[in-house]
Order: sequence, then structure tokens, then C-alpha cells
Amino acid sequence: VKSLPPDPLLLRAAALASCLLPGLRAKDRGAGGHDPYFAALQAALKRAGVAQPTLVIDRPRLEANIAAVRASLAPTRLGLRVVSKSLPAPALLDLVLAGTKSNRLMVFNGVMLDEVVACQPQADVLLGRPLPAAQVADFVRRHANSPAPAARPQWLADSAQRIAQYAEIARANDAPLRINLEIDVGMHRGGLPGLEALSQALDLIAAEPLLRLTGLMGYDAHAAGAASPSAEVGRVMERYATAVGLLREKLGAVAGMTLNTAGSPTYALHLADPYANEVSVGSAFVKPTHFDLPTLAHVEPAAFVVEPVLKVMDPALFPRREGLTEALNALDPNSRRGFFLYGGYGDARPVSPPGLRFSTIYGGRAMLAGSARVELAQDDFVFMRPTESEGVFLQFGDIAVYDGQEISAWWPTFRVHA
Ligand SMILES: Cc1ncc(COP(=O)(O)O)c(C=O)c1O
Repeated sequence: VKSLPPDPLLLRAAALASCLLPGLRAKDRGAGGHDPYFAALQAALKRAGVAQPTLVIDRPRLEANIAAVRASLAPTRLGLRVVSKSLPAPALLDLVLAGTKSNRLMVFNGVMLDEVVACQPQADVLLGRPLPAAQVADFVRRHANSPAPAARPQWLADSAQRIAQYAEIARANDAPLRINLEIDVGMHRGGLPGLEALSQALDLIAAEPLLRLTGLMGYDAHAAGAASPSAEVGRVMERYATAVGLLREKLGAVAGMTLNTAGSPTYALHLADPYANEVSVGSAFVKPTHFDLPTLAHVEPAAFVVEPVLKVMDPALFPRREGLTEALNALDPNSRRGFFLYGGYGDARPVSPPGLRFSTIYGGRAMLAGSARVELAQDDFVFMRPTESEGVFLQFGDIAVYDGQEISAWWPTFRVHA
């Protein structure tokens, strides 16, 4: 649609020419209504009285994904740490922890850290980013007397300055703090940049009796975008190996340490990793579109954004271009009908019925367009897949849980946070 000529005269001329040259026409992407899977889900939503934009989790698919991730890790020596920011509802997290028999969580923000202490007090928590000192100080002070293991997380640090701040917090509260050091394994988002910085960080931790080193973390999502992800993960492992080597040299042994690596896009490339002893996985369990990767072919999409259709416009009229409707439709049959959703916002891509796209002529995410072959009526649902689970899962209120037959539960999310 973007390539349609903007000039009205040209557009009409092209539409006329397309009668003789059908190659000028866009292919009709419409192919009827929902397939049996989405038709059944739509019927279940209607029976449950759902009539607003909702995030749905397909529980059988989620359970199959849990089993698939477990099966891939079973023959390895790797532990699994569940990424809470990508599964931001307590019941969802419970199910994944129970299903994978893991008690390890990776947490990324102060809000969720507080909630995890309340809902998973026995969890072994590793921070996934180095939190600002003010937030850490506040947490340490408030949880000073908490007996919960989750209230004694492994704080992530990746600079001398952060270690000094955390040492200060430990002294001010007379509270020992566990420190895990992030190393840059090639993504350059964070992490100590090299062996010299790591050596200095180890010395700083050793010099403060209230700080205890608990391990290393090296995250490598960048490898998924490399020409050869497995070759890049090979380089990641080499960098990780030199860091572990330095740890051994300086501390004597690394037994019992948390040597964390990977994420959903790359964990399957670490199955034979001899250096790390655990991988982090979150998004893979629900598989949003950004995780449609060859390394995650063994898991299926298990989360959908569903939005009722408020209005169908046939033919779709575009403001100030009403006179061009026929020419537009001749050139692109997919612009024929307009569907206005209840909501429509949020990071999600339409998947059912097939052939729908947000109209670039109408602009933004205001209207979905589809051909006359798209079967979709007012009050039907459009199904979309979220691009990510982090953030997007928090935009719809309680999550509807589909058991394959009915919407049989509603899961409250964690508190909204950035
Ligand atoms: C440090 C770290 N580890 C692991 C992950 C993987 O999370 P997910 O499995 O949801 O992609 C992330 C995601 O941002 C991360 O920042």
C-alpha cells in the first residue's frame, strides 16, 4: 500500500492500467475467517462474556512449552533461571517455576522484587540489571529483618562505582550483600568490559567484608541477530571462559557460584556450554513475535491479544480521499474493508483472521484493513500476537486463561511498572 502513487491522477491511471496489467494489483491476502483454533478460542471468549481488549494465555500450549524447555535442558548440566519480567503475573510465574522445577528467578526492577519477596519468598533471586543505589538502599532497609531468601538477592554490578555504592549500602545497614558481576560477552549493553575491569571489581568486593561475590552473568541476545548465531555464541563462550578462568585464578575455586548466561533467543545454543552453569529463559514460554527464531522452533505461541471489532466499514473510506476509493481498491483489494477495534493499541501484530494489516493510508494503528475475502463481523474478535511479553502483558488488566475449551481462570498481573 505504501508504494501506491500518492498523486490522485497517477493513482487513477494506475488503477485503469491494472485492468490490462493485473500484475500491478496487490495480491488479495484475505482467506476467510478464523481457523478452527481461533474460532474455538473466539467462541470460548464469547461464552465467558469477554467484550474488551484482553490478553489471553493458552494454558495447554504454555504447558507444552514448559515441557519442551525442560526436555531440552534435561540432558545438560545447566540449571534454569526463570525471567520474571517476561512472565509478569504471579500465577504465570508459579506455573512456570513448578513446571520446570526451578526455584531461581531473574528480576529486573524494584516493583517486581518486592512482589517476588511476597509471592515467591523461597526463590533464589538474581537481578538482571544493576539497579540504582537509591532503590537498592530502600529495598535493603525495608527488608532488613525479612527471613525470606528472596529478600537477599544477588545484586548485579558491572562497575567499580556500583560496587562502591553497594558497599556503602551494606555498611549503612550492617547487612551483608551478595554481588553477582555482569561481564560484557559481546552485547555491549552493560557488563564489565574486560579482564582488567573484572580483576579490579573482584579486588573491590574482596576488600569489603560485607560484600560476597556469588558469580557472573553474561547476556548474549545480540548473538540471535548474527549471521551465524552459533558461531557468535562460540565467541560468547570464549569470553565467558576467560572470565571464569580469572575467577578461578583469583579465588581458587568457583564451586557453588551462579554462572549465568543466555536468554530465550540463545539458550538452545548453550546446551553444551562447559563454563556457565545456568541459563535464563522467560519469553520462550509464551513466545511473542520477536521470538520467532530458528533457535525457538520447539515452542509455540501461547499468548494472544484479543480485541473486539467495534465497527466494520465496507468499503473503507479514507478521510479526504473518498473519491479515490475505487482506484485504491482496484490496485489493492486488501484496502477494501476497514475494521475498527476496541483498543487497537499496544505492541501486537494481527494474526487472525488472515489478511489483516493496519492501514498505512488511514495511519498508525487506527484501522485494520482487509479484502472482501476476510470474514470478520462486528463484535467478532481479532487475534494478535504481542511482539514482547515484557510490558505488553501489563496493558490489559487480568490475563484470561484458556484451557483449550473455556476461559477458566483470570490471573492478575504484577503491579504496573516500567
Ligand atoms: C540479563 C538478561 N538475561 C536473560 C534475559 C532473557 O529474557 P527472555 O528469556 O525473556 O528473553 C534478558 C532479557 O532481557 C536479560 O536482560
